[in-house]
Amino acid sequence: MDGLLYYSCIYIYFCIGKVKYPIGDTLPLDIYAENMIRHYEKPHNKGKLDNPSAKIHEDNPTCGDTIDVYLLISENKLKDVKFTGDGCSISLGSASMVTDYVKGKTLQEIKRMGKDELIEVIGINPGAGRMHCATLALKAIKEAIFKYEGKSVDESTKEL
Ligand code: FES
Repeated sequence: MDGLLYYSCIYIYFCIGKVKYPIGDTLPLDIYAENMIRHYEKPHNKGKLDNPSAKIHEDNPTCGDTIDVYLLISENKLKDVKFTGDGCSISLGSASMVTDYVKGKTLQEIKRMGKDELIEVIGINPGAGRMHCATLALKAIKEAIFKYEGKSVDESTKEL
């Protein structure tokens, strides 16, 4: 299949989030894109925590997508994290993978996370046009940690 058409189909899938294999069932998606779709369809850590140490609401002003994250923090570590939200397949798929990844890490390790580490975690680089979708959950988690610590959000988090 022509490369441009292939990537257009993936783009359409991620934008609409519901059209699977737009050209019959013959479109072989990249393994990382398939993993993203699996997380979108069956997200991990979806839900709320009853008594979170920190909670934050984040939205994406460019598209209206939203996420709420709930953190359970103990002894400087993220013991548990849940999220709820409404968004595209990249934002919700990334939220699922990122919440898996940060669980058990120290607050410092999470606050150091940037776009490069995020791309490694989710396995795809969504490009400049969709990076804001992929970073939405990580940004919310980091903001919730700063809120928990009573500190201002740092510049690298604001720029995510
Ligand atoms: Fe809104 Fe992706 S289109 S977060």
